[in-house]
Amino acid sequence: MKLNENYSNLKESYLFSTIAKKVNEFSTANPDKKIIRLGIGDVTLPLCKAVVSAMKSAVDEMGVQSTFRGYGPEQGYDFLKNAIKNYYLEHNVELESDEIFISDGAKSDLGNILDLFDKDNTVLVPDPVYPVYVDTNVMAGRKIVYINANEENNFLPAPDKNIKADIIYICSPNNPTGAVYTKDGLKQWVDYAIQNNAVILFDAAYEAFITDNSLPHSIYEIEGAKNCAIEFCSFSKTAGFTGTRCGYTVVPHSLGKLNKMWLRRQTTKFNGVPYIVQRGAEAVFTPEGRKEIETNLNYYRENAKIIAATLDECGIKYFGGKYSPYIWLKCPDNMSSWDFFDYLLTNIQVVGTPGEGFGKNGEGFFRLTSFGSKENTIEAMRRIKTLICNG
Ligand code: MLT
Repeated sequence: MKLNENYSNLKESYLFSTIAKKVNEFSTANPDKKIIRLGIGDVTLPLCKAVVSAMKSAVDEMGVQSTFRGYGPEQGYDFLKNAIKNYYLEHNVELESDEIFISDGAKSDLGNILDLFDKDNTVLVPDPVYPVYVDTNVMAGRKIVYINANEENNFLPAPDKNIKADIIYICSPNNPTGAVYTKDGLKQWVDYAIQNNAVILFDAAYEAFITDNSLPHSIYEIEGAKNCAIEFCSFSKTAGFTGTRCGYTVVPHSLGKLNKMWLRRQTTKFNGVPYIVQRGAEAVFTPEGRKEIETNLNYYRENAKIIAATLDECGIKYFGGKYSPYIWLKCPDNMSSWDFFDYLLTNIQVVGTPGEGFGKNGEGFFRLTSFGSKENTIEAMRRIKTLICNG
């Protein structure tokens, strides 16, 4: 038996596990201190009424012989794929049902999709980046090259003709920086991918936070994208499914063999998302569901405004927050991002995510999420103000 030695090239633990461990250690040593968690992008509002009621009905169906369902289609039920298809039409994107694959979330699919690509491909990732893109390729031993996302390019790097890559990751609205590509910005990447015969893996998990409809929700709003891009999306951040698990991946037929290969992969290694969960996800697209999730999204948008207002008051520079649940701020006094993490945890028990965990260009930056409760967000900002502005 030989081990996959590529694992020895990974950091010892996944970024959010490292943070959880540090926070748990602090909390065990200081049980009387109230910790406010604005670190991992986990939602706090419950599932909306439309989703809960659809799931309850589905549970009832499962308890009756005539409506009980066993294995479902591995790639998802048509009722959910049709709801997604109609949602894309709102952005003038036409998809076929069999281009949509329902899954248990974007994170799994972003890792699993790599089954379709040879080890001998060069991967291009922006730095800083969601660590899953890097770690899953390190596990496979693939060569990774980086493109700098920094203050100079507003964390929206344009393609560099001198870099040759086969697999390109783009996340917009971006995790961790909150930056959003315009249609022109994305078009440059689509053109570059086509010229290089490369594939773009487009992570649209945060698209629902966009309120300016001149900004693209989907890469398929860009001409040519169906010839070079796979899109990943999720109900986690849109509708509070982080614990419920449901997402989807779009693999257009125009990508040639990839659509059939992904079907083959999913039917072999995956048995589909539970019927009950898919009925819940379908309800997200009903008029009531849309209204209710919009109320929740607005709640998080308000939190982002509260965070931004405090940072403005303190004169701390930040990015994101407008069309994203992430606020990407510059650590004060040139502190390193892990020092700032420790400083906030030890002094005021506010948890964020150190930018360095997302790559070298994240050093000196820090990510806060707007997914907390309003009360906790206000309290965290009060503590930050006292420690940093008045301290
Ligand atoms: C994050 O905090 O970056 C996200 O929660 C990660 C994820 O969605 O897996």
